[in-house]
Amino acid sequence: MSRVFSGIQPTGEPHIGNYFGAMRNYVRLGEQFGKNSLYCVVDLHAITNPNAFDPATLAEKTYEMALANFAIGLDPSQVIFFVQSHVPEHHELNWIFTSITPVGELERMTQYKDKAGQFESIPSGLLMYPALMAADILLYKADTVPVGEDQDQHLELTREIARKFNHHFGQTFPEPKSVHDPNALRIPGVDGNGKMGKSKGQGSTIGILEPLDAIWQKLRVAPTDPARVRRTDPGNPDVCLIFDYHKLFSDLDTIQLVDRECRTAGIGCVDCKKKLMEGVTEHLTPIQQRAEELRTDPDYVKDALRQGAQEARAIARPVIEEVREKVGFLKL
Ligand code: TYM
Repeated sequence: MSRVFSGIQPTGEPHIGNYFGAMRNYVRLGEQFGKNSLYCVVDLHAITNPNAFDPATLAEKTYEMALANFAIGLDPSQVIFFVQSHVPEHHELNWIFTSITPVGELERMTQYKDKAGQFESIPSGLLMYPALMAADILLYKADTVPVGEDQDQHLELTREIARKFNHHFGQTFPEPKSVHDPNALRIPGVDGNGKMGKSKGQGSTIGILEPLDAIWQKLRVAPTDPARVRRTDPGNPDVCLIFDYHKLFSDLDTIQLVDRECRTAGIGCVDCKKKLMEGVTEHLTPIQQRAEELRTDPDYVKDALRQGAQEARAIARPVIEEVREKVGFLKL
């Protein structure tokens, strides 16, 4: 029997990269695996990057991230949805994993290298981040992990940690695999500056709960094919991020139309963006309405998270017991 686990950091507003890259798969796999699918707002990970977290807003961002996941259709009564810091077993397994993970393996991680460059004095939590991620997944013996492509290296290390633990202490953990949405491996930022990322700030992101007029202001000025200078120049959709977004939001007819008309200069970039905005509006309006409904009942999200933490702990505790015994801790 498969078990699904994934986590999302409360470091900023959830954006369309998170949504198409991962969150939509949470819903799909949640419908398939029910209470054998666990999703977690990873606040312990969020604090490893002091530039991306503020104690004054962490709780609110954690709440908002849960609410956004419920607004896209993840039903907390059908899956297990919780906050990482509410299940202390994550810390315990993390510590055991740090004891079998070479520093060199952690230093090799590209996300670590990217982030570490921002600091004069690097927080060690930033280095340990992937061990905690392995603990998140393996605490539930999950084998299926819906994520964007940027997490693949961390998943590779998770498998190595599982193998190493099994080798030293006896067969305990599966070797989990990532599951991607093939159309949303790495969604580009709306500023044209590489991958869309929460910690890159609002200039890079299109928030799924962002007001539609604010989204339009970002799309309006978003870069397109740089070689298309005049309206009469033919464009190349293959190098245009607006076309990447069309593939996510628009129906097949519209995608084929803008592809053809861009190449022959039949459609200008502004009209192409307006067509995209129709798809964005159609897609995000019901999600934003659902979010507003959820806000009218402030207990809904908190009750769901309380219940989720209990359900998660019920799975985690026996695994921790097994791990303690295998590692050889004294039992009283
Ligand atoms: P985080 O919070 O950065 O992102 C959450 C999910 O969104 C995906 N994603 C993207 N997918 C496609 N295009 C993009 N531009 C894009 N930006 C983000 C991410 O791949 C991710 O799936 N380390 C994880 C959180 C985590 C976790 C875990 C994930 C902690 N423990 C255990 C899986 C299992 C992270 O920083 O995600």
